[in-house]
Amino acid sequence: MTQELTSPSPAPQAPGTGRGPGWWRDAVIYQVYVRSFADSDGDGIGDLRGARERLPYLKDLGVDAVWLTPFYASPQADGGYDVADYRAVDPLFGTLQDADELIRAAHDLGLRVIVDIVPNHTSDRHPWFQDPELARQRYLFRPGKGESGELPPNDWESVFGGPAWTRTDRGDWYLHLFAPEQPDLNWDNPEVHAEFEAIMRFWLDLGVDGFRVDVAHGMIKAPGLPDIGHGAQAQLIGAQVLPFFDQDGVHAIHRAWRRLLDGYGDARGKQVIGVAEAWAPTAERLALYVRPDELHQAFNFQFLNAPWQSDALRSVIDASLAATASVGAPTTWVLSNHDVVRHTTRLGGSLARARAATLLMLALPGSAYLYQGEELGLPEVTDLPDEVRQDPAFFRGGRATGAVGPGTDTESAPDGAAAGGQDGFRDGCRVPLPWSGELPPYGFGPGGSWLPQPADWGGLTIAAQTGDPASTLELYRAALELRRRLPGLGDGPMSWAPAPDGVLAFTRPGLLCTVNPLGHDVGLPAPGTPLLSSAPVTVDDATAQLPGDSCTWWAI
Ligand code: BGC
Repeated sequence: MTQELTSPSPAPQAPGTGRGPGWWRDAVIYQVYVRSFADSDGDGIGDLRGARERLPYLKDLGVDAVWLTPFYASPQADGGYDVADYRAVDPLFGTLQDADELIRAAHDLGLRVIVDIVPNHTSDRHPWFQDPELARQRYLFRPGKGESGELPPNDWESVFGGPAWTRTDRGDWYLHLFAPEQPDLNWDNPEVHAEFEAIMRFWLDLGVDGFRVDVAHGMIKAPGLPDIGHGAQAQLIGAQVLPFFDQDGVHAIHRAWRRLLDGYGDARGKQVIGVAEAWAPTAERLALYVRPDELHQAFNFQFLNAPWQSDALRSVIDASLAATASVGAPTTWVLSNHDVVRHTTRLGGSLARARAATLLMLALPGSAYLYQGEELGLPEVTDLPDEVRQDPAFFRGGRATGAVGPGTDTESAPDGAAAGGQDGFRDGCRVPLPWSGELPPYGFGPGGSWLPQPADWGGLTIAAQTGDPASTLELYRAALELRRRLPGLGDGPMSWAPAPDGVLAFTRPGLLCTVNPLGHDVGLPAPGTPLLSSAPVTVDDATAQLPGDSCTWWAI
């Protein structure tokens, strides 16, 4: 029985909604995890040339832009998030010329390109850290505590596990919020600011359309580096402002970068953007990163962490929209990335839920990020043997998947980003993409693959799913095509509509979206004509049956 719960109520809107002037406001951006996307030279590691060769696939998928994870010169202590030279391409991934060709090829196809920038820390192999004089000025060294300085300067823990401090052979300690190979920079030093602005200009000159700012909430630490109190750090991350994350001082950096990006773009008649990977305790604090004079987007991890349940989804959507509306920014939705358990697995190992969650995400106002392989419905790989593991957190006994963010340890967030993985570490979502064929490496490249691919992925390859209307790949293609075609999907208004208990319904211009996160069918008066559904929906005598764990877009 259909129960009318509420009258239609508008969800919070950004002022002046409608197709805003910025391309990013409703862009669908595809994350290419370079080492696992496509390998051109047979070393088993994806590279820039491989990515360039497969760009037509992304164009055909229907995305607007690609975000490339770090391909810079790096000892690879943390998958390239330990950068030794920000202006060089690591030979593993190719050359600067390959980067240039990739950016040009993407632009020729009408795809924009975003690259990572890693400003919180460098590699310990970076020339600044290698030079003891420079290192002292540009990183965070402190004397230890205890009689002979044998104890770390404070009680901070690394997000990858263990103390956030390592002692040098000179007896003092340096801070690393992540691995010891990733020393934190001293952002009180103006030379650090100048260097990162120069790095940005270098890549902008090469044609990139923006930057994904790694750990955008981390660069500024509280004065005096105060203790946080014992043992509770993992639980506190994300729950409150810590002395090393989300300090108010980071916003001055983002303001300076916005001036740089706007100035650069204005002079060339283009719009170049910054997207914050910022973990903040609340949607309101996250919105501070996207104030009009700061970055353009911030990943909305609250949505990613939401349980698959109507009240929780509705409240996280409302809170996200309200927070970004208060600063006039679009909301940026994401379900999977290289740091969290793939959403097919995280949502209870249910492809049906994953498909529904994706259709829900793509119907919401704002921009959306897709992570390579989610369009194939790939599950997390949960049986990787220890000897192939590469995630530094695995070796340091750190927090589980999503270690870089809040509320994602399996204990405190059973429905969170870590749920359902092998053991919470991040290799299981980074297994190379299956393109074609029945056997590994499934067309990933002419050699093997740096992490083993499951033997049963033959049916999940891009080739196998292409043209099969029931496949997840074709669902993504159809959704992205409709998103382009329907005016107002993307950055337009949204209103909640009446729906049966446990079910969500909302309207967008020309469209109504229903989401049934319950594990069983629900009937309701057909709200229109089905346009696209994550599972077969039936309409009989004007009554629609929404399958359990489904999302449907209706033409109204
Ligand atoms: C990246 C992680 C990385 C960490 C440290 C995160 O934001 O997404 O993959 O381990 O930053 O750089």
